Amino acid sequence: LKILITTGPTREALDPVRYLSNRSSGKMGFALAKAAQAAGHQVILVTGPVCLTQPEGVSLHRVVSAQEMWEKVQALTLAESPEIAIHAAAVADYRPKAVQDQKIKKHSESLTLELERTPDVLGSMRSIFGFKGYLVGFAAETENLIAYAQGKLERKDCNLIVANDVSRSEIGFDSDENEVVLCFRSGKVEHLPKQTKETLAQEILHRILVESASSQA
Ligand code: PMT
Repeated sequence: LKILITTGPTREALDPVRYLSNRSSGKMGFALAKAAQAAGHQVILVTGPVCLTQPEGVSLHRVVSAQEMWEKVQALTLAESPEIAIHAAAVADYRPKAVQDQKIKKHSESLTLELERTPDVLGSMRSIFGFKGYLVGFAAETENLIAYAQGKLERKDCNLIVANDVSRSEIGFDSDENEVVLCFRSGKVEHLPKQTKETLAQEILHRILVESASSQA
C-alpha cells in the first residue's frame, strides 16, 4: 500500500532569526515510516525540522512551517493518492500574524505577539484534499485524553486517533518510549502499554492495516 506519514514539529517565524515551535522530535513518525517500509509498503514521509537521518527506501519531504506542510501534503495527496494517511506531526496551531523583515530589537520592557491560526493539515484531508482512504490522526493532550481525542476523531473525520498523554515526561515528545490509547471510529478504545517507539510503531501499524482492510471489505 501507499502510506503518507507526517512527523516532527513545525517552525513559525517571528523574524529572520526567531521562531515558535514545540518539543516534537519526529521519532514517532520516523518509527512508523520504518515499520511501514520494512513491511513492504511504499512510504511518503513529510517531516518538519528534525535531527533524524533519512530512513532507507522512504520518500522524504522536508518542510518548515505549518503552511508548507499543508501545501506539501495537499500536493502529495493529489499526486500520489495514498490509501492510508498517518498524521503524527505536531503542527503549530498558531503562528505570528506578522513576520518581521528585520530582527526584532529590544526597545521596550515587554513585547506582545499577535498570533493567528495556521491551516489544519489533518482537518483538510477529507474536506479540501479529497482524501478517501484510512485517516489516522494523533492527539497530544495533557488532560482528558480520551474525551479530547474522540472530539478530534469526529471533527477531523478520522478513522483512528492515537492519543498521547504528553504531561508525562518519560513518554511522548522527544523520548524514546511512548504509550498510547487508540480511539477508533467504532467507539473501540485500546490501550498500548509503554514500549519503544519502534515496537509501538509496529503495533499501531498492524492495527491500522487490519482495520483499513476490514473497512474496505
Ligand atoms: O515527535 P515525537 O518527539 O516522537 O513526539 C510526538 C508524539 C509522540 C507526541 C506524537 O506522536 C504526537 O502525539 N504527535 C501529534 C502531536 C500533536 O500536535 O497533536 P495535536 O493534538 O496538537 O494535533 C492533533 C492532530 O491534528 C495531529 O494529528 C496533528 O498532526 C494534526 N494537526 C494539528 C494542527 C494543525 N494545524 N494541523 C494538523 O494537521
